[in-house]
Amino acid sequence: MGGRNPWCQPNLVSSEEVVDVVGRCPTGALTYQHKVGGSPETSANTNTVVVSYNGPLFVRGDLDIDGATEDMTGVKFRTALCRCGQSEHKPFCDNSHEKVEFQDYGAVGETGQELNQTGGKLTIKRVKDGPLLLSGNVTMIASSGREAWHGTHTALCRCGASKNKPFCDGSHQAAGFVAD
Ligand code: FES
Repeated sequence: MGGRNPWCQPNLVSSEEVVDVVGRCPTGALTYQHKVGGSPETSANTNTVVVSYNGPLFVRGDLDIDGATEDMTGVKFRTALCRCGQSEHKPFCDNSHEKVEFQDYGAVGETGQELNQTGGKLTIKRVKDGPLLLSGNVTMIASSGREAWHGTHTALCRCGASKNKPFCDGSHQAAGFVAD
């Protein structure tokens, strides 16, 4: 697609294809609204966090993310959150993990608790100089694809220094992590 301007030309394909492509956009940079009829985009029935290999946290669901602005409509449904600590657009991923060669297999070593339901609002708040606090039903998926953890509250590392990733273990303090 190098050099094509505009790079995104939804008028060239069917509305079904647009909906499909937008739904697979992992960062929330894309969203859609039908010009005539059609249902607006809705959130996934289950809130999930995929802990990616050497990369960000891919989150899907009914999201309320601290730091998202009004014009970022797609991130109500899906987004990529920084966990290497180096993004200049925190809490969102800006691909800095590639530049700093962030390394983490994306394993999840805890199981959490049983959930009676999987949907509802998932709130993600930033702790100043610390982790991301998740509140709401959420399922965490390891990079292997295994559903590894279920729960309603957790603190996820976003400084890159935890020894128990994806969870915060307090290492952000010794690491001198600074972030709003
Ligand atoms: S935010 Fe990384 S250890 Fe707490």
